[in-house]
Amino acid sequence: MKKKALIFGVTGQDGAYLSKLLLKKKYKVHGVKRRSSSLNTQRIDDFYLDPHQKTNFYLHYGDLSDSLSVLKIIEKVKPDEIYNLGAQSHVGVSFDVPEYTSNVTALGTLRILDSIRNLKMEKKVRYYQAGTSEMFGASKPPQSEKTNFYPRSPYAAAKLYSHWITINYREAYNIFACNGILFNHESPLRGETFVTRKIVIALCKILLGSSEKLYLGNLYSKRDWGHAEDYVLAMWKILQKNKPSDYVISSDKQYSVKYFVNLVCKELGIKIVWKGIGIKEKGFWNKKNIISIDRKYFRPTEVESLLGNSKKARKELNWKPKHNIKSLVKDMVNSEIKNLKSSRI
Ligand code: NAP
Ligand code: GDD
Repeated sequence: MKKKALIFGVTGQDGAYLSKLLLKKKYKVHGVKRRSSSLNTQRIDDFYLDPHQKTNFYLHYGDLSDSLSVLKIIEKVKPDEIYNLGAQSHVGVSFDVPEYTSNVTALGTLRILDSIRNLKMEKKVRYYQAGTSEMFGASKPPQSEKTNFYPRSPYAAAKLYSHWITINYREAYNIFACNGILFNHESPLRGETFVTRKIVIALCKILLGSSEKLYLGNLYSKRDWGHAEDYVLAMWKILQKNKPSDYVISSDKQYSVKYFVNLVCKELGIKIVWKGIGIKEKGFWNKKNIISIDRKYFRPTEVESLLGNSKKARKELNWKPKHNIKSLVKDMVNSEIKNLKSSRI
């Protein structure tokens, strides 16, 4: 019999890559999508066929802020594996909507775990929780499973609740529940307001003449960036082990936002020249100012430096990323240019 997976957050970047992977592994994939006034299934349209045709991919309306919908979907689907990728996942936005972020990103996790318990599915279901390097926040890099947490945003604090409630339900009720502590991962499907995708879109548009300028915030924060395609494989591997455990997933390399801009410029043949310091720092191309700083993109508390140590995952899961920062940039740039050119036609 085919294994059944249920994905909360199926319409997001990771939801799309994970669905693709699981369909390839012959799973029946069920996804939870929330009601929205405009289409939110663009990332999964490739394999979301008309439900009247034969398919292994099914969508259900639900919302992590609605306990009843969560419980009913789990009861109906009876999954072997649940991946909780659903979240208000933007760190900057979490300062604007802290209560909503906590409700969905923290309590949403509790709603799933408690549904498993209420439905007496503790022995049947394996649960994956999408944890984050943001939980390390201000802790000194490199960060591993042994590093102390020090969250620096409502988002990170909410994810920390999810981390511990996952461990608590594992210990209290013997649920096969695991945390993946994933460092930043990007792709052509990355949300447009996260810094990598924002940079790629803006610079491609500037090159093609459909935009003039890119405004950014902190150019000097450092991140450990990987490719989403590699990271969803790690999620699946975490749930295939004999014993549940928590794993850091990262590239173990670190670059600044400015370095990422420079790489994208290089890939596009834009010769960028930086002048000025602090808030007045600017990027020029052919003497034209194409990048400036806007204070509104700074966060009340910033996470300055994230760098993973993923030794445990590499050893126990036999996991290793295929991509590096250059192949990630290439993939994102090529796909954006293709998108922009086809939207012109
Ligand atoms: P994403 O693109 O922002 O996707 C988030 C998903 O959650 C979307 O499908 C979204 O639906 C859904 N969602 C939001 N609010 C919901 C609600 N109230 N009820 C049900 N679903 C809801 O995020 P991602 O980059 O794929 O990341 C996946 C998960 O990993 C997230 O939990 C994120 O916090 C975590 N994470 C991400 C990274 C990273 O670098 N990407 C690193 C560590 C951890 P809509 O499409 O309708 O908005
Ligand atoms: N979004 C954004 N927009 N970030 C900017 C900008 C800008 O214009 N300018 C500079 N930055 C800086 C942010 O201040 C941050 O230090 C860094 O770029 C990365 O920002 P994001 O791409 O928004 O990602 P994030 O690191 O805050 O959070 C992402 O990764 C986490 C894992 O560490 C999200 O995907 C989270 O959901 C995830 O948990």
